[in-house]
Amino acid sequence: MTSVPDFLESLEAALARCHHLLDDAASRRDAPMHTPVVSTLGVDGQPRSRVVVLRAFNAPNNALRFHTDRRSDKARELSLDPRIAMLFYDPAEKMQMRIEGNATLHSDDEIADEAWRSSQAMSKLCYATEPPPGALLSHAHAFDLPRDRAAAEIGRPNFMAISVSVAALEWLWLGAGGHRRALYRFKQSGINASWLVP
Ligand SMILES: Cc1cc2nc3c(=O)[nH]c(=O)nc-3n(C[C@H](O)[C@H](O)[C@H](O)COP(=O)(O)O)c2cc1C
Repeated sequence: MTSVPDFLESLEAALARCHHLLDDAASRRDAPMHTPVVSTLGVDGQPRSRVVVLRAFNAPNNALRFHTDRRSDKARELSLDPRIAMLFYDPAEKMQMRIEGNATLHSDDEIADEAWRSSQAMSKLCYATEPPPGALLSHAHAFDLPRDRAAAEIGRPNFMAISVSVAALEWLWLGAGGHRRALYRFKQSGINASWLVP
């Protein structure tokens, strides 16, 4: 039987553990939380989810970052309604994390430039696809995606970094030794933390 880890017996220690997992997720490609699910509200009100790569987590600023194509549906959806939800799960840690927040879109500023500079050539190539992501095709191969690394810079005008300011974080730990769940709301005045029934 797995006992409940000590760090889950305190709201502060559990939040520190979540921050550690997010740090690890942003820096390690094979971390389970490296590829969270991001949900937005569709222009028709339909919730829409997709996997992205977590590129950065900044604990002091309580902010995350991922990258996308500015021509994508999610970019358009977030430009109309910045509310965003992110879902992370690490089976070895037995930990689910749900984050709610607000997205800020960066295309032509220093944050976007720095995110672009720190991207690998292989990642940059994805932004050079024509026609834009999500466009209807007459057949499976009817689009261009340059493979030549020399073409990596072509996609810069389509690149967008999305910063998420975390408004709420909820974790759920399901183990054989007992379950735990807690919610943190981040306000100007400080953190409002509570245990919840799992
Ligand atoms: C492992 C994996 C990682 C992905 N990473 C990203 C990413 O970092 N950014 C992104 O825009 N799409 C990423 N995608 C593709 C999205 O899941 C999605 O299919 C695409 O962005 C179109 O989404 P949209 O039409 O809702 O904008 C990834 C998909 C997978 C399977």
